[in-house]
Amino acid sequence: MLKYQPNMKSYEEEYKNFSWQIACNELEYKDGSIINIGEYCTDRICRMGKASKLALIWEGFNGEEKKYTFDDMRVLTNTIAAFLQKVGINPGDRVCLFMDKVPELYFGFLGILKMGGIAQPLFSAFGSESLLTRLEDAGTAAIFTQKKHLPKVRNIVEQLPSLKHIIVVDDDGSKPLREKEIAFHMDKAERVNEFKVYPSKAETPSVLHYTSGTTGQPKGAQHVHYSLISQYITAKYVLDIKDEDIYWCTADPGWVTGTSYGIIGAWSNAATQCVLDAGFKAETWYKFIEKHKITVWYSAPTAIRALMKEGTEVVNKHNLSSLRHLTSVGEPLNAEAVIWSKEAFGLPFHDTYWQTETGSIVLSNYPGMKIKPGSMGKPFPGITATVVDLKTHLPIEKKGIVGMIALKPGWPAMFRTYWNNKETYDKKFQNGWYLCGDRASIDEDGYFWFVGRDDDVINTAGHLVGPFEIESALLEHPAVAESAVVGKPDPMNMEVVKAFIALKPGNEKTKMLELEIMNFVRKKLSALAMPQEIEFVDSLPKTRSGKIMRRVLRAKEWGEEIGDISTLENDM
Ligand code: PRX
Repeated sequence: MLKYQPNMKSYEEEYKNFSWQIACNELEYKDGSIINIGEYCTDRICRMGKASKLALIWEGFNGEEKKYTFDDMRVLTNTIAAFLQKVGINPGDRVCLFMDKVPELYFGFLGILKMGGIAQPLFSAFGSESLLTRLEDAGTAAIFTQKKHLPKVRNIVEQLPSLKHIIVVDDDGSKPLREKEIAFHMDKAERVNEFKVYPSKAETPSVLHYTSGTTGQPKGAQHVHYSLISQYITAKYVLDIKDEDIYWCTADPGWVTGTSYGIIGAWSNAATQCVLDAGFKAETWYKFIEKHKITVWYSAPTAIRALMKEGTEVVNKHNLSSLRHLTSVGEPLNAEAVIWSKEAFGLPFHDTYWQTETGSIVLSNYPGMKIKPGSMGKPFPGITATVVDLKTHLPIEKKGIVGMIALKPGWPAMFRTYWNNKETYDKKFQNGWYLCGDRASIDEDGYFWFVGRDDDVINTAGHLVGPFEIESALLEHPAVAESAVVGKPDPMNMEVVKAFIALKPGNEKTKMLELEIMNFVRKKLSALAMPQEIEFVDSLPKTRSGKIMRRVLRAKEWGEEIGDISTLENDM
């Protein structure tokens, strides 16, 4: 029994009667009128009489704390928007956010949207090469960053002719800034009380999130301001955000969860949000929940497994009675984790499923609906979801049969294209369905059960990494002749990166070289993309046409059937 009344009273009723118009009405949005996410998350909330309500409670890694009301946020996002205009950024320009989870990241995101720019958030742990690929593809005009990440930007600036400004938010004047670099201090800048928000319409581009695929470099999933409609209503019905809630989304805005629900969904619902800009530690997390009396928590399976590992003793040392609703996303949430969380917090984690491309939650377990531990739940009202046959792409009518998750296009937050890559975008649609690229089955009661990805993309701790990007980086190492990168099962992170490498003649297969190659990738791309294991091989399995068959290597790692290898050229 729930101790509270969920925002969505009955899933069945809502699914039957739902229309996106409900969200439009609540947001007072009319077809064809202006819709700007930045305005909706700040000015509108102030107009609703909540100007002095806390919007952000921020804590840094050494315990420093900052608090901002919705009115502070309104003015600071105006200040950022006006600054961007002043330095010559135009509507439609891509502006990158390359920062840790500091307040400037959150307000910068909304400030960019307020002046009509396209926000391009990138994970601050990315190395220069990961950054270069994404800035080059987007033709980014400006980048917000911090002193500590500036060297990575300096490394590549010469290769980025479109990049006009590098905006440093915490410059202390101790070292001279270089050409294109500007210091901007959000808290000290002259506050701009009134700003004429860019009159964006439903289809005006808003956010560009880079995500990895099997082939080629990462692709920019391009979203529009109309995504707000889905993000607002899913935050209300799935995360169950209410006026009195203190909400914590642990995701970094470098990834889509951190923007769709760490910014847009939360603040369009006028939630007070907490942000912890510190690494994972069970004790720190529990203290954070206790201190700020967090009520709604959105996290990820890897973090939950890490908490499980620490046990319930550390949970019991804290008063976590403020918690009332727990949700998770990013990877399969094991049944054990759901059962454990009931034991540890007295509440189950509710799994949610979606993607960078879907922009908002599409499958979920809802408060008040029976949870089947291990299942991703049911389609969100307004979403038509099924599984389709892997070859024919026709819906599978029989229950319990594995197919590919497919969605009927047309919900507001669906991405509108891949930046510069319409061809790949078009391939995601078959027979009138958007294909998610994940395999699942549906049971008799309509619950979806995740089986695995349908491609070679690796999901490590909830973050997707593309094998192609890592293989390309490996090839730049002087000792590497060729490589194949696959996901290897891992009890904590679900998968970790494993690289099979054939060396160029004259190189020895030593431990030293292995470590050197690992470090090489970590610096170029990121710690996530670094192979946790390297296996030196004499050759890689290839098709007769010379394509490396990652599938064979992956199957070996997972102890699965290899399948049809009749086109294989060489035996491993
Ligand atoms: O493979 C699925 C997995 O994460 C992919 C989407 O990753 P990304 O675009 O980075 O967005 C992550 C956060 C929205 C999916 O295609 N995934 C996401 N949620 C789940 C999941 N796998 C299993 N269960 C989930 N609940």
